[in-house]
Amino acid sequence: MLSSSVLSSAIAPAASLLRWYDRHRRRLPWRAESSEVPDPYRVWLSEIMLQQTTVTAVIPYYERFVSRFPTVQALAAASLDEVLSAWAGLGYYARARNLHACARAVAEMGGFPADLEALRALPGIGAYTAAAIGAIAFGIPAVPVDGNVERVAARIFAIEQPMPAARTAIRLAAEQLGQDPAARARPSDFAQALFDLGASICSPTTPACGVCPWLAACQARRLGIAAELPRRSPKKLRPVRYGVHFWLTDDSGGVLLRRRPAKGLLGGMTELPGTDWRALPWTPTEALAFAPAAADWRPAGQVRHGFTHFELILDILAAQVPRIAGQGFVQPLAALDETALPSVMRKCVRIAAGGKP
Ligand code: ADE
Repeated sequence: MLSSSVLSSAIAPAASLLRWYDRHRRRLPWRAESSEVPDPYRVWLSEIMLQQTTVTAVIPYYERFVSRFPTVQALAAASLDEVLSAWAGLGYYARARNLHACARAVAEMGGFPADLEALRALPGIGAYTAAAIGAIAFGIPAVPVDGNVERVAARIFAIEQPMPAARTAIRLAAEQLGQDPAARARPSDFAQALFDLGASICSPTTPACGVCPWLAACQARRLGIAAELPRRSPKKLRPVRYGVHFWLTDDSGGVLLRRRPAKGLLGGMTELPGTDWRALPWTPTEALAFAPAAADWRPAGQVRHGFTHFELILDILAAQVPRIAGQGFVQPLAALDETALPSVMRKCVRIAAGGKP
């Protein structure tokens, strides 16, 4: 736990951070200019997309998404399939399903509530996202604590306890930073200034302390341990799972695809037919029992993909038949680029169709 003496020993004036932010703020497509009123829909959408995904990866998705669904009403009126298809490639597909459910709830309510409790009651909105929307869109003095903000707070207060045990102490420290009257006067800018500081100067391995607006306040810098914080407990190895997927093409230039069950990992997404993903590698005989057709199956390569809780190794088998009659649907090869495939399946297609890793 964090003692009050540790907290009070760091005085990080919000005014210096905000002065730095006014000069160096990033221009991001979801970010309102200082003269603009933030749109809660855009703030919410960007925050959901930015969970577990980098700013650089999110930008093109965000731009496509808002031009296709410019308002929460437009998103609510879309089908889940359309939303999953616009989301394909961003990963963590439960976010897309919750996004759709949330859009419908918000459209029904007539707009996003300007209240942290009410925001948290919506699908897919937890403590972090409620604080981010509350602060950025509605000017509620809340501090959203993501990975970047955790790093900044751990360093300012030199919290040496390793993650994840340090999470509560770090959250309290971050809230303490937001208590400064200058922060409370500009909650939206303060939250985004913390994001920008964490994403630029206060970087994970090589913080640029010399140009940091909080240089004088930073306890970790004073102790010479800024780059080491937050400390991490030794990593557990991710378990490995194995699967085999089948690339079945026909003479008309089609490939067999199928849809995954609506619930569970990659729920409702499109995939090549295949086995389950299990802890034991598949023997060829075991795997071929799942083949969508009796054919001359040949190895076409292997794909590795990291999910949060496991590492996946997929063998791809390929065959061609005159006409496909398997379970699923046949997609023209020429239309595969526009097909909503999760990243792991894109890798499989790339290997099977192009022979590239
Ligand atoms: N990370 C999380 N939310 C963000 C935002 N709104 N802007 C930049 N980085 C972020």
